[in-house]
Amino acid sequence: MIDTWPEARPPTADELAERASPCAGILTMLTERVDEALLERCPDLRVVANMAVGFDNVDVDAATAHGVLVTNTPGVLTEATADLAFALLLAAARRLPEGSTAVREGDWGPWDPGWLLGRELNGLTLGIVGPGRIGSAVARRAQAFGMTVTYCGRRDAVAFPGLRAPWREVLRTADVVSVHVPLTGETAGMFDAPAFSAMKRGAIFVNTSRGGVVDQDALRAALESGQIGAAALDVTVPEPLPPDHPLLAAPNLIVLPHLGSATHETRARMAELSVDGLLSALRGERPHHLVNPAAWERAGRGAGA
Ligand code: DGY
Repeated sequence: MIDTWPEARPPTADELAERASPCAGILTMLTERVDEALLERCPDLRVVANMAVGFDNVDVDAATAHGVLVTNTPGVLTEATADLAFALLLAAARRLPEGSTAVREGDWGPWDPGWLLGRELNGLTLGIVGPGRIGSAVARRAQAFGMTVTYCGRRDAVAFPGLRAPWREVLRTADVVSVHVPLTGETAGMFDAPAFSAMKRGAIFVNTSRGGVVDQDALRAALESGQIGAAALDVTVPEPLPPDHPLLAAPNLIVLPHLGSATHETRARMAELSVDGLLSALRGERPHHLVNPAAWERAGRGAGA
């Protein structure tokens, strides 16, 4: 039997637990919290297929302890998310929202050689924080625009198109910083007041990863002081960000409603991959994109089983 959540809003924790309690598998979005409390109420659960590459909404250790497999959707959203990061970078560098607003609000006056000047990307340095698939795809785009790319991150990115540098050095030298790290205990709030102060004055900050990696009060202060010249975010805390949220009062800020993977092609592939992960696990096969191989081993299904 398949039970589908019928509403546009995500279920509350209680509604999710109630609907999921008899299930052997659930297909979740990044809006669903899968934690110990939920897992305790779902004794028959064998798999959580998360329709996202990020899985910070899932307590993976708790799932492993319950023998529940967790799958995600890596790879298929790389290009779409990199496109969006680059669109944000260009929009911030060339002040597209301001130009568009000026047209609609009747502020488009006579041609003025000094009006709405932005920055051209050719010759700028892009610092990528998080050299995974998406960071690498953004770096390739940047090189095509004549940018120098530096990067830092935990992964030893052998074929990364750019120069590896320590985190502080990336911040100090980049004209644009683009964030591509997962949200973990280690990365939460890593873009705080000291990080923004370490960046070049007037640098552009782009975040398409998770809102939780940014201390939003610190970002707002950095935008207000001009330390950060412009910020372009696809992700915030909370999501949705209410229109009266204090962050939105900051100058030179673009915020999008988490559109990184929002293309027809990518969302279709994400849906296919997550259904694939769900069905493989229910058939007793090892899913391709298993986040917690330990759960597979734990259930005695690893090593040639
Ligand atoms: C993800 O997959 O983690 C994105 O943030 C949503 O598509």
